[in-house]
Amino acid sequence: MTDPASHRQIPVLLDCDPGHDDAVAILLALGSPQVRLLGISSCFGNCSVEDATRNIQRVLALAGHAEIPVATGAAGPLLGDAALGNYVHGASGLDGPPLPDPAADVVAEDAVGFLRRMLVESDSPVTVVVTGPMTNVGRLLRDHPEVAPRIAEVVFMGGSTERGNHTPTAEFNTYADPDALDLVLRADVPVRMVGLNLTHQALATPDVVKQMLAVPGVIGQTCAAWMGFFGDSYERLWEFSSPPVHDPCTIAALLDPDVIEWREAFVAVELDGRWTRGTTVVDLHRRYPDQSPNVRVAMRLEVDRYWDLVLAALERLSDRLAGADR
Ligand code: RIB
Ligand code: CA
Repeated sequence: MTDPASHRQIPVLLDCDPGHDDAVAILLALGSPQVRLLGISSCFGNCSVEDATRNIQRVLALAGHAEIPVATGAAGPLLGDAALGNYVHGASGLDGPPLPDPAADVVAEDAVGFLRRMLVESDSPVTVVVTGPMTNVGRLLRDHPEVAPRIAEVVFMGGSTERGNHTPTAEFNTYADPDALDLVLRADVPVRMVGLNLTHQALATPDVVKQMLAVPGVIGQTCAAWMGFFGDSYERLWEFSSPPVHDPCTIAALLDPDVIEWREAFVAVELDGRWTRGTTVVDLHRRYPDQSPNVRVAMRLEVDRYWDLVLAALERLSDRLAGADR
């Protein structure tokens, strides 16, 4: 007899490039009972795919969830060279506090094979969350278009309705593989975009970090230390007084429909501009009348509610670890 609550859970596949904020997104997914995390696939981005894979495994070991399957994904974009974000996240991609060694091996399939199998085996459509470059999911939909009806929606952190970060106009994830994002935008799947215009509202202020430190045990301490490293990078590179914790916003959107205000808009990604490749073009005011809205774009964050969701998940994980030690 399966747990009746499990039928109300949202089946989720997470594709990510940890990355400090990806790591918090993993903990938010693990610590939220509304989510049934089917698996995690890695992608190059904040660091090499090898380091991203290891970082996923280490975060799962930290959280006591080594049972979550992990698949290794793309080492670079569909076209061109790999842009890496070690300048933000450090040499390991997740610099800062010590983390446990991986407690389980990766699955035998690569990310595309794993994602496809998970979608085929699921008894209901799956929400695919992408918090790194879109390469794995773009390749999945290009090579296996038959799985599109099995995807409830793609929710991705990337792009922006305003300026970029990796370049003046392009956000890092969309810059890293704009061709993959273009494939997903053209596919027959619902898409929600959580761009910098939204995630720059999700600042880990000193008060937030203080609340993380109040979470008993290693979970709270580690998250607070991650915010320290991530915050130093954001202050050095972009003069932020507190770091924007981008990626968990995608998971929070699944937990509470009211935590983010959305807007339907036509979104395209620039593929050819010498200075603008990877820039998301978001038509908020129907300036292209012949282009129908194709994406729901995140516009406003209920900041206190967001952090309540994150901190509650950290508390649950901490309680579960404490229970395991008893
Ligand atoms: O631009 C921010 C995004 O790029 C986040 O997902 C961060 O983790 C990096 O992947
Ligand atoms: Ca990321």
